[in-house]
Amino acid sequence: MRYYLISALSILAAILRGSLAKPFSPRWDDMRIKHSWYAVPENWESLGNPLSGTTIDLYVALKPEAHRENALIDTLYQVSNPNHPRYGTYLSKEQVADLVSPPPGTFELVNSWLQYHGVPSSSVSMTHGGTTLTLSSVSIIQANALLGASYQLYRHVETNETVVRTVGYALPAALHGLVQTVVPTTCFSTPHTQWQSPRKRSGGATAGLKRPVSGEPVTVLSSRNDDATTPSFLRFLYKTTEYRPAAADRNALGIVGFLNEYPSPEDLAMFMSVYRSDGTNGAITIVRVNGGGYDPTNPAREPNLDTQYAMAMAYPTPVIFYSTGRGPAGTTDWLVSWLGYILTESNIPRTISISYVMDERNIPEPYAAYICTQFSMLGVLGVSVLIASGDDGVGKGECVTNDGSVRFYSYFPTSCPYVTAVGGTTNHNPEIAASFSGGGFSNVFKRPDYQEQAVAEFLQHLGNQYQGQYNATSRGIPDISAQARRFPIILKGERKVVSGTSASTPTVASVISLLNDYLISQGKATLGFLNPWLYGTGMSGLTDITSGSNPGCNTNGFSAIEGWDPVTGLGTPDFQRLLRVVLADPAEPGGAG
Ligand SMILES: *[C@@H]1O[C@H](CO)[C@@H](O)[C@H](O)[C@H]1NC(C)=O
Ligand SMILES: *[C@@H]1O[C@H](CO)[C@@H](O)[C@H](O)[C@H]1NC(C)=O
Repeated sequence: MRYYLISALSILAAILRGSLAKPFSPRWDDMRIKHSWYAVPENWESLGNPLSGTTIDLYVALKPEAHRENALIDTLYQVSNPNHPRYGTYLSKEQVADLVSPPPGTFELVNSWLQYHGVPSSSVSMTHGGTTLTLSSVSIIQANALLGASYQLYRHVETNETVVRTVGYALPAALHGLVQTVVPTTCFSTPHTQWQSPRKRSGGATAGLKRPVSGEPVTVLSSRNDDATTPSFLRFLYKTTEYRPAAADRNALGIVGFLNEYPSPEDLAMFMSVYRSDGTNGAITIVRVNGGGYDPTNPAREPNLDTQYAMAMAYPTPVIFYSTGRGPAGTTDWLVSWLGYILTESNIPRTISISYVMDERNIPEPYAAYICTQFSMLGVLGVSVLIASGDDGVGKGECVTNDGSVRFYSYFPTSCPYVTAVGGTTNHNPEIAASFSGGGFSNVFKRPDYQEQAVAEFLQHLGNQYQGQYNATSRGIPDISAQARRFPIILKGERKVVSGTSASTPTVASVISLLNDYLISQGKATLGFLNPWLYGTGMSGLTDITSGSNPGCNTNGFSAIEGWDPVTGLGTPDFQRLLRVVLADPAEPGGAG
């Protein structure tokens, strides 16, 4: 796997040619620790050295030039803020690469280090929009030498997942200030799906469904006696039923899959014939990223849920499913793998839904910052990214920290302030918070300006309840929410019912995708990174959810109240009202490509 950015590559080539002549040579054996855990992370056990011959792709994330440290994020806020003159004027990939370029001399120095260790320059390429030097197929021995590391094969004691990681790693002193992080090193975590089995099973709901009978009246909008949240009900509730997409030839909705999970087109066809009978010719495109798996006869629940609801709600908008791979034996990282791919694409879907997240507590901060930067690049390119907020309320289990106190936690990458975090609701008339809706505060990312006022109002209401159990200065989660309970899906020809923010995320993504459809059909810029708009004028297009709570960590959790809350965010979408807000915003025709 090698992705080139032409301009950066030619710089690299020029530097490689010039580097031999340079006299300056730092001491490459002067290694300083970059990141290390005290012990092997909980629930992982070493299986010893990886098989001989194992190679890994090493991603060396470079920092941008110091005086332009904030250029990318400043640009993100300008192009995403309806009140800014640059609103909707999204950048090209080349312009983004320019914003993040490292200081002059960086490539030269890194290459001299690689040469010292005998890594051929042919294995080095620029990836991730110009933020990263990727070293392809590095042997474990070489990786250990480059990073003063001890890569081993680790197994997760519950899931049996295996990864190749190191408990710590170092870099030469001369590179410390230039490199943000190296992946994969000390981040052992894997994003997990956010669905759960229903607590209450009614006999009919999970009964097997053989062949759909055409014309069978499956959904009843006015009555909820089938106790299921169907696409028709969601379209009715969020008011998209009347909307006729007009830019399906230029719009797309992307669904990201990890863990080698993928959907079944056959299940989708069956689902459509039952739940969206006017859209039975809706088809998904499967894109296999970095060796991602695909066997249509062996679909998984999450990708089926995501693609079935995306297609049934946004039809006829094309749905693209990314089956992300990560090399043999867990040598690559899921998020880095997908982001490296998507940032090279010339036609990125305008809306992207991700239902896989991981416990923020297990993630090295530089890794989190690096991934979050990649998501901000998607925003600068004009892409709206929606990510599940998690299914454990304020936290699962006891949540006791080393010092004995109870502390709530949140999930990543939903805690990244440059994505839109999606929580869950249930019931209707009125909707209330789903008790599992992931919500709270990051311990890594500080509070972004766009939610300063909304979160401050909530904290004032909260007073000193839970003081010390959450981080009062950081990013609040979620931003928005939608129905998350009892979604029927088709899996291997059978009807199943699932719940979770895994279900609400593609639901919100579909509504946003329809708004983008409208904007594209009018020749206007798409919505891009949503939050500055949502916390501004967009708020009036949402239905505030004001009751329910998200218990966890042996507490009652937070309560949904008027305004923003760390249970349901700002509320659930009302497509018709959002459309009116979009019509009123002075959106310039943009460079969304
Ligand atoms: C993990 O492997 C063990 C032993 O091979 C097996 O008993 C167990 O069922 C596996 N667990 C999962 C979740 O696959
Ligand atoms: C609170 O969040 C900030 C980032 O906003 C972080 O720097 C700090 O370490 C967090 N505090 C704790 C106790 O985790």
